[in-house]
Amino acid sequence: MELLKSKILTEGKVLKDDILKVDAFLNHQIDPVLMDAIGKEFASRFAEQPVTKILTIESSGIAPAVMTGLYMNVPVVFARKQKSLTLTDGLLTAQVYSFTKQVNNQIAISSTFISEQDHVLILDDFLANGQAALGLIDLVQQAGATVSGIGIVIEKAFQDGGEKLRDKGFKVESLARIKSLKNKTVDFLDDTREVINE
Ligand code: G4P
Repeated sequence: MELLKSKILTEGKVLKDDILKVDAFLNHQIDPVLMDAIGKEFASRFAEQPVTKILTIESSGIAPAVMTGLYMNVPVVFARKQKSLTLTDGLLTAQVYSFTKQVNNQIAISSTFISEQDHVLILDDFLANGQAALGLIDLVQQAGATVSGIGIVIEKAFQDGGEKLRDKGFKVESLARIKSLKNKTVDFLDDTREVINE
């Protein structure tokens, strides 16, 4: 997706050989025009799949997921990482280990919002080792629902999350796939251009 790639190149920062900072438009400040385009793009990439719900995880998955929900005309559920005072009914939970942060998070959704009839599109901002996506798949399966596919805004293709999910047979669509972040350079799977760091 060209708009996303040019945003990464102009406003992203390569922090380390494996970390891309995108808080100017995705992880902290949010660019609504870009989110709108992302929603439209996911809706078109999953137009052939039956989708009755979108499932994401707080916090940075929510903005792209809501815009996709708008274009696909389906509700959006987000898994919580923090305990909620009101999230008490029929909790479904899964463990998600973050390699980036080296912590185990429990994620949870209420079983009220995903049922056996649902076809669920899973969306997230980043795909690295795939732990978040696997946790979300676990929640969908616990609910007895079907995973329609997995949409990712930025896939770090040099980590093995994408391969793990595709090997399991899931349709994974990533809007930007990064081959490498070495030497302060964002190398996409289909071409190479440099990030302008200040
Ligand atoms: P995984 O789920 O694919 O295994 O990824 P990992 O544990 O490595 O990621 C944990 C958190 O770090 C996630 O955010 C993920 O989006 C984020 N992350 C991973 N790689 C990068 C990166 O290169 N750049 C940025 N900016 N984030 C990355 P989170 O903790 O759930 O945060 P948030 O959604 O609340 O913002």
